[in-house]
Amino acid sequence: METIKAILTRRSIRKYKNKKISKDKTDKILKAAMYAPSAFNNQPWQYLVIDKREILGEVLKIIPHAEMLQQSTLAILICGDKNLEQNIDLIVLNCAAATQNALLAAHDLGLGAVWISAYPVEENMKGLKNLFKLPENIIPISLLSIGYPDEKVITEKRFKQERIHYNNWK
Ligand SMILES: Cc1cc2nc3c(=O)[nH]c(=O)nc-3n(C[C@H](O)[C@H](O)[C@H](O)COP(=O)(O)O)c2cc1C
Repeated sequence: METIKAILTRRSIRKYKNKKISKDKTDKILKAAMYAPSAFNNQPWQYLVIDKREILGEVLKIIPHAEMLQQSTLAILICGDKNLEQNIDLIVLNCAAATQNALLAAHDLGLGAVWISAYPVEENMKGLKNLFKLPENIIPISLLSIGYPDEKVITEKRFKQERIHYNNWK
């Protein structure tokens, strides 16, 4: 898919068909995430792939409003690694860039995905850390729920000329 088209047509997808995602597609999503820009090219991320139904069910107990996980066949927890980047602001920015790359890659592959908050929601972060036994240096940033789309979401117009400022604010 052409890049601009992918960006403009990507939407959060929360309903999925009951169909497994291949390892090849999963790897492509992970690869796209790892090609995101990062400050000083530190690439301070780690990825936890969840493809077992019973574990997705456990996640649901921690993040009750993430009911889309009930139908998804794949989730990826994108984490920051404090051993690779000490600055938490940079960890968050870098992992956000990786998350957007992953969302776009999923869309390009004909999949649907949604970003579920881990950071900065304390209960979600704590619950995920406990469930997955994350070491102290690993910070859960975003959880992606992914599946074959079973809904169509219309894209509203978002381009706002008045939000663009040329050369100064006047
Ligand atoms: C930082 C961040 C956190 C989000 N957390 C959630 C979430 O916990 N649950 C959810 O359903 N959607 C979540 N979303 C998705 C947004 O609701 C969605 O991106 C927004 O409504 C715009 O819709 P679109 O993704 O279809 O363009 C999150 C998005 C971002 C960027």
